[in-house]
Amino acid sequence: MKMRQMATDNPLRVLYLTSEVSPLLKVGGLGDVAGALPKALRLLGVDISIVIPWSPRVKFVLQPWEETVGEFTLVHTFLPDSEVPVILLKHPSLLETTPAAYARIAMSIVELKENGQLPFDLFHGNDWFAASTIELLSRKSIPTLLTIHNLSYHPKLLQAAIQRATMLTTVSPTYADEIRTETRHDLIGILNGIDTDVWNPLTDLLIPTQYGVENWSVGKQKNKEALVNQLNLAEPTIPLLAFIGRLDTQQKGVNKIIEILPLLLAESNVVILGTGADELERVLQKLGQQNPEHLSVNLRFDEKLAHQIYASADMMLIPSSFEPCGLVQMISMRYGTIPVAHAVGGLKDTIRDHETGSLYQEDTSSALNTAIEEALKVYQSDRWATMVMTAMQEDFSWKKSAKAYQQLYASMMSYAAGRSE
Ligand code: GLC
Repeated sequence: MKMRQMATDNPLRVLYLTSEVSPLLKVGGLGDVAGALPKALRLLGVDISIVIPWSPRVKFVLQPWEETVGEFTLVHTFLPDSEVPVILLKHPSLLETTPAAYARIAMSIVELKENGQLPFDLFHGNDWFAASTIELLSRKSIPTLLTIHNLSYHPKLLQAAIQRATMLTTVSPTYADEIRTETRHDLIGILNGIDTDVWNPLTDLLIPTQYGVENWSVGKQKNKEALVNQLNLAEPTIPLLAFIGRLDTQQKGVNKIIEILPLLLAESNVVILGTGADELERVLQKLGQQNPEHLSVNLRFDEKLAHQIYASADMMLIPSSFEPCGLVQMISMRYGTIPVAHAVGGLKDTIRDHETGSLYQEDTSSALNTAIEEALKVYQSDRWATMVMTAMQEDFSWKKSAKAYQQLYASMMSYAAGRSE
């Protein structure tokens, strides 16, 4: 059986390790990145394959095929609409997301490479999941690239990987500046993109009315009426503000929205979608019950509702305390939903203040409130249409960033070649 299709003659072979990959298995932003960046790299001629542990939650889009190698089963498939091979390692010891499971994966990656079943020239891993593999491969002088999406999980393991990896990237230039002293001085920030085929209001079948830059006003109003109806809210003509994301206080900051909710509900409808901390869920649920006409609280993962909200809301509230990149603001802008966001990390790098969104400096609910009030003033003026149309036309595709990764791979390979001469 032929495990990989060659993209060009003698392409660079990259193995990409992740814990999730959209649409097969998606938990958070890493899944979106892993589902899109390898596709864009493949189009540039990089022979990239993805490795993830198999889980019963994986939703196969294409019929997979299996082979047994030692005590492991390798489940093979492709990323839908691409030639990117996905190899799922199946073994009872890999069912939980633990450092021990990823240490086993590291050993099997090395074994599979050494017996020729998984040939690659360069390893690209994400977050702490890559730590053990980077450790083993660095002993064999194989080039390794680590991408940081989140510094806070398993910090000890991650720090070890940070020190050992040949090169280090994170997902936006500003976040790279913010964490350089905690990581390495040569950390590079490469901005994430979004899958612009999945996130396209012109072709999106999960929303009732498709629209583009020319008819955004009619399109969004129709979607808004449908959603306001569906969620049993009142007054489809008043502004609709949204929050989509994990409900936590450390990063995503929904607590800052809760603090100013009475002010917001006086002139707007608010819709919240996400899951997270029990206490925040309880508070939000109660507030939803107290304000059924103007607040809709949806404590679940719901892809269709997410698309509907992006297509209907006027503003997206993003009060993150820190944000390595953030995808919500990019999707929002593509759907003409203006982000009101804290000026940190990737939010600062993707939103142009007053042109495609509104950025505020201080990490407080009152700064958030001031920014929303200012945005609501623009909403009542002619400037809003210009802002929406500018936001919708920003280029958030992976093209530029995939090229940056490709160049980085190439420089790592020539550095490695130089060292072995
Ligand atoms: C993590 C970060 C988020 C980033 C995502 C993908 O979830 O918190 O900011 O967009 O990874 O890189």
